[in-house]
Amino acid sequence: MEFLPSQLSQPDRYKLMIGGIVPRPIAVVSTVSADGRPNVAPFSFFNGVGSDPMMLLFCPANKPDGSDKDTLRNCAAAAEGGAGEFVVNILHAADVRRIAACAEPLEYGDSEFALSGLTPAPSTRVRPPRVAEAALSFECRTVQVIRTNPGAPSGGNVVLGEVVYIHAADGLVNERFHVDPVRLDAVGRMGGIEYCNTRERFQVPMGRAALQQPPG
Ligand SMILES: Cc1cc2nc3c(=O)[nH]c(=O)nc-3n(C[C@H](O)[C@H](O)[C@H](O)COP(=O)(O)O)c2cc1C
Repeated sequence: MEFLPSQLSQPDRYKLMIGGIVPRPIAVVSTVSADGRPNVAPFSFFNGVGSDPMMLLFCPANKPDGSDKDTLRNCAAAAEGGAGEFVVNILHAADVRRIAACAEPLEYGDSEFALSGLTPAPSTRVRPPRVAEAALSFECRTVQVIRTNPGAPSGGNVVLGEVVYIHAADGLVNERFHVDPVRLDAVGRMGGIEYCNTRERFQVPMGRAALQQPPG
């Protein structure tokens, strides 16, 4: 089968992406509105960008009516009405139901913290609270927002942020800065409402050495 994106409907293009680009890490993004009201929502179109400076990105799509999701509105620059800051929280698999609950569309200014039972905790360098239950929290300042189809229903946006402070749960990171994947127990998003855990892992060396390893 072959597909030409311009001949597919937007929902079908979305299904190919969400079902094929898997598993995706989940950023639970906490923000505040310009007048200080907290918001938290999950985003799985999310990844690291680089480590010098330490940058990451996530992608809040436009709402079906073409307007900004609350998270995008809040982390946009002050000149665009936002607070210019956000926190990316990585939660444990045990919290997946509370993560999914945060995707409930609420009125602007109503907090998903109260709805989900997740606990806001003070951040160090930015105004938005971090999530107390998180294994890792990356406090970020928004560097750039790229709007790929401004005002269009489901149009994509990239939020690029510089990490300015990091919180890690006790015992998660060893003296060589390796993150313990068992303690992290991260959860990934697949297509639709399906998720995966990170409990089955295996090692493969890089480059030619990978081919010396017996398959299995
Ligand atoms: C696990 C998970 C991952 C999600 N990933 C994204 C995403 O990458 N981009 C997006 O626009 N919406 C994503 N959503 C939907 C948003 O979380 C949802 O639209 C939410 O209401 C946005 O909240 P806000 O308006 O407070 O920003 C995801 C939902 C879930 C449950």
